[in-house]
Amino acid sequence: MAKLTVLGSINVDHLMQVAAAPKAGQTLTAKNYQVVAGGKGANQAVAAAKLGAEVAMIGCIGSDAIGTQMKAEFTQVGIDTSGITAVAGEATGLAMIYVEDSGENRIGIWPGANGALSEEVLVHHRDQVTATDLLLMQLETPIETLVTAAALAKQAGTTVVLNPAPAQALPKALLQNVDIITPNETEAEQLTGVTINNMDDADRAAKALHDQFGIELVLITLGKRGVWLSNQGQGKQISGFSVNAVDTTAAGDTFNGGFVTALLEGKSLSDAVRFGQAAAALSVTRLGAQSSIPTRAETLVMMES
Ligand code: RIB
Ligand code: NA
Repeated sequence: MAKLTVLGSINVDHLMQVAAAPKAGQTLTAKNYQVVAGGKGANQAVAAAKLGAEVAMIGCIGSDAIGTQMKAEFTQVGIDTSGITAVAGEATGLAMIYVEDSGENRIGIWPGANGALSEEVLVHHRDQVTATDLLLMQLETPIETLVTAAALAKQAGTTVVLNPAPAQALPKALLQNVDIITPNETEAEQLTGVTINNMDDADRAAKALHDQFGIELVLITLGKRGVWLSNQGQGKQISGFSVNAVDTTAAGDTFNGGFVTALLEGKSLSDAVRFGQAAAALSVTRLGAQSSIPTRAETLVMMES
């Protein structure tokens, strides 16, 4: 079976369900509070593992009970955790999340141990980057390490997939070694300067990513409007599934995990996008990050709907 390595963040999510997030000076009592496993890297690794991929994760937890517990949960879903380092004197990364009645969220993160995922740490897990088929990364861990990982992977012939979330400016040194990029509208605008209001805009943003950085495949996720898939400049819209949104947290992560899983199985690009979309749609109907990720069986049923 083709292998996947996910390099990225591990967070504990403190989630409060509220009608609407509090305004300045306002205090609100939440309707519900839960502590759930999150972090973009971990969410993507768990999604891929639940959806059928063989996954190894490179990341950092703190020297605390919650980090240790989350690592044990990764093992339970079949993730190889030998690339996860417990950092002495650091706390596991943390996110404070308000989920509004609309299903939308507002998130503040404290990187904690994720900030310790340095190039020195990466060197110890070099094989997981070079002797794997696909490397999937996001932007919640130090960028220098992503630059190095992408260069190592590229040299070794590993496919590099970057989910450029949360939105930030990125060095060319990283983007030039990326094979597949999966921004949402905001992130695509951050990287290209193109504001996306319609499919023509999505096409222009995708072309900018192909032309400026040589990225072969661009997938712009457009929420309810689906995905703009641009393969070396040949673009098309793939519409998604419509569901009642409870919590959109980790929908993007579930999409990325599902997409790469199907890609590694040799599915066509369109089918891989559909598989990611089906999994993401299910995740939106449930509360929380990793707690909302569906199984492969549930996703296959959704695909048929
Ligand atoms: O993408 C969702 C994730 O973003 C949450 O799980 C939270 O930890 C933040 O990192
Ligand atoms: Na969710």
